[in-house]
Amino acid sequence: MTSYIPSDADAALFGNRFATAEVPSATFPDTGMSSVDAMRLVGEDIALEGDPARNLATFVTTWMEPAAQRIIAENLHRNFIDHAEYPRTAEIEQRCIRMLADLFHAPGETTGARTQGSSEAIMLGALSLKWNWRTRQQAAGRPTTAPNLVFGGDVHVVWEKFCRYFDVEPRIVPLAPGKYTIGPDDVAPHVDENTIGVAAVLGTTFTGHMDDIVGINDLLVRLKKERSLDVPLHVDGASGGFVWPFLYPDSSWDFRLEQVRSINVSGHKFGLVYPGIGWLIFRETSDLAPDLVFEENYLGKTDATFTLNFSTGSSMVLAQYYNLVRYGRAGYTYIMKNMQENARVLADKLEAMGRFEIIGRGDEQLPLVAFRLAGEENFDEFDIAWQLSAERGWMVPAYTLPPDAQDVTIMRALVKETMSREHVDTLARDIEEACATLARKGGAHPSERAKIVTGPGH
Ligand SMILES: Cc1ncc(COP(=O)(O)O)c(C=O)c1O
Repeated sequence: MTSYIPSDADAALFGNRFATAEVPSATFPDTGMSSVDAMRLVGEDIALEGDPARNLATFVTTWMEPAAQRIIAENLHRNFIDHAEYPRTAEIEQRCIRMLADLFHAPGETTGARTQGSSEAIMLGALSLKWNWRTRQQAAGRPTTAPNLVFGGDVHVVWEKFCRYFDVEPRIVPLAPGKYTIGPDDVAPHVDENTIGVAAVLGTTFTGHMDDIVGINDLLVRLKKERSLDVPLHVDGASGGFVWPFLYPDSSWDFRLEQVRSINVSGHKFGLVYPGIGWLIFRETSDLAPDLVFEENYLGKTDATFTLNFSTGSSMVLAQYYNLVRYGRAGYTYIMKNMQENARVLADKLEAMGRFEIIGRGDEQLPLVAFRLAGEENFDEFDIAWQLSAERGWMVPAYTLPPDAQDVTIMRALVKETMSREHVDTLARDIEEACATLARKGGAHPSERAKIVTGPGH
């Protein structure tokens, strides 16, 4: 059969060129196309992706209210860094910083920064730890050549990235089967006068639990008193910073603890804003190393910047402020409790199937369910992840834990704001059916398993 090439006039009248033509993909296009063609081309590509509402791997926001979406759409043309031109946007950033410092119980005046996400916030926070350590060492006449940073294997990859990019020795406390967070006894042997800080996680990427932050703080307070070692504690609250204040307001992990000097939180996770916003909050103004702040004359105004990037959008800062004032403590508490309740129901249903062990039930945790097969089956967690996405389009990741728990495989389902009780009931049924199919046919084919996403998501 000869190929059918529609006329340009027909394509323009009834459809678009890419109904039959191959998409531009390798070379810079010689000619352009109409805006409608370009829009449909992008839309058709995106239609092939997974549905964000069934993406239970990501911690990142997949839904915002229509009013917030309007703020975002109406402010995409506003470059956040142009503080001279957009002083109200800059003021709104400062309001968010003050509100978060208040939420985290900062004792007085403080400072912080809007960032692209927790990764940038962690890079900046850890740089400040390094700079402050160097100043302390120089003042004491000690060498500044071998800085180290102590954290557990339960951290996000960004902490190792920081160490590699900025030449700091990572002192990583390994996990163990059944032990997926760290505490003071793990940290103590690694701390010395070259330790720029200890990083502890509030809501790990792997199981959603917290390190023993109170215990680590007590250890560092003791080291300060007994050995004059003043080692700061940074809390990575990428996910937990917007969960603990509302679900566990009496649990101390923040600036209520003496050695906690800085905290990062992702606005685009449980801050409920679309991707592209994180926050770094210092306990006191003096915790930000002054050398890291650049005073510059830009477009006629002197401005102080503390950031790894420069130009970026204002929309997500404005959307964060919208959420903070729209929800307040009462609204965030309502949303977090709903998610926690649905996570409880999902965990109950998984437990009732008799096949699964729930990880760390009853402990303070992000609103998620981390689970694994309890006994011997003729399939494993990776097979379930595959079957569930093939049958129903749910994205529930399966992954192995970091060393020395690398032989433990778990699955994790985030229960987010948009996950209704009906979704939970359906997901539980779909997991049960996926297991029944696998029990009949055995595990997925190796070629299917090769396609499974095995990371924990973020
Ligand atoms: C504990 C933790 N820290 C840091 C990050 C990195 O955060 P972001 O994606 O906001 O850069 C994540 C992301 O999942 C995380 O879970």
